Amino acid sequence: MFNRLKHKWKVGGLQLLLILCTFAIGGSLTGYAGKRLMNLTGLEKNALWFVLYILLVTLLWPFAVLLISVFFGQFRFFSGYLRKVGQRMNILPRPVRRIAIFASGAGSNAMKIIGEFRDSPKVVVALIVCNKPQAGVVALAEKERIPVLLIEKERFFRGDAYLRELQDADISFIVLAGFLWKVPPALIQAYPRKIINIHPALLPSYGGKGMYGQFVHQAVVDAGDSKSGITIHYVDEHYDNGDVIFQADVPVVPTDTAESLAQKIHALEHEHFPRVIRTLLLGSGN
Ligand code: GRF
Repeated sequence: MFNRLKHKWKVGGLQLLLILCTFAIGGSLTGYAGKRLMNLTGLEKNALWFVLYILLVTLLWPFAVLLISVFFGQFRFFSGYLRKVGQRMNILPRPVRRIAIFASGAGSNAMKIIGEFRDSPKVVVALIVCNKPQAGVVALAEKERIPVLLIEKERFFRGDAYLRELQDADISFIVLAGFLWKVPPALIQAYPRKIINIHPALLPSYGGKGMYGQFVHQAVVDAGDSKSGITIHYVDEHYDNGDVIFQADVPVVPTDTAESLAQKIHALEHEHFPRVIRTLLLGSGN
């Protein structure tokens, strides 16, 4: 249990101890102060007294914990912790999610995602990351006035994976939309389960190194499969391997070619990808 907490809160053993002490003493202080205040009201100890007492300690608890956290040097942790609790309970406004789209191609999916969030007060496509200066997605980003980060292999794979630029742009979520390079471990560790990819086939079939674009569709047509589709999945250290978030399929008919199948798949991607991202970031019903 302690190890789970250390992992969840990203703290070491000593800090965990200080945090738990803060919770314990903050909780006791809340109970004590709540009772003293209730006594001042002079109310009789009945059902109403208990309801008011619970309401009072609920209100007092964040302040008591914050106060105690100062003495244990944990104010920063607790102010962040309480802010997150408040946001989860919809008491405090949720922060704007700033996403980066990594793409190397035409960018039709990027365009759909940009369109999805153009007027959103909650999600902003804040950065386009691309490894090909001539890619269609770069022109698209310029037209949309979205900053572009052009990356090169050496620093991406053997340097800091451009973490500094991503953090400077306050990126909290990464979408791969036709990005052909493997994502380096440094980036995956910095964004755990916050990087997703779309693959133009029904994984685990037709995935892995070299399986992209027309290669995928040609392989499906050659195999005579009766259906293909799209897979939206989390990204891990291996090509097309992380947990599947969403799949949708289309029929493949005998007259289909790699090109006609590509068109069907693109239509399916455009229909679902922006919506799946919206649900992941904002929950269903948003
Ligand atoms: C899409 O088919 C996507 O599944 C794959 O790359 C393609 C990108 O197309 N990963 P576009 O650049 O978004 O038009």
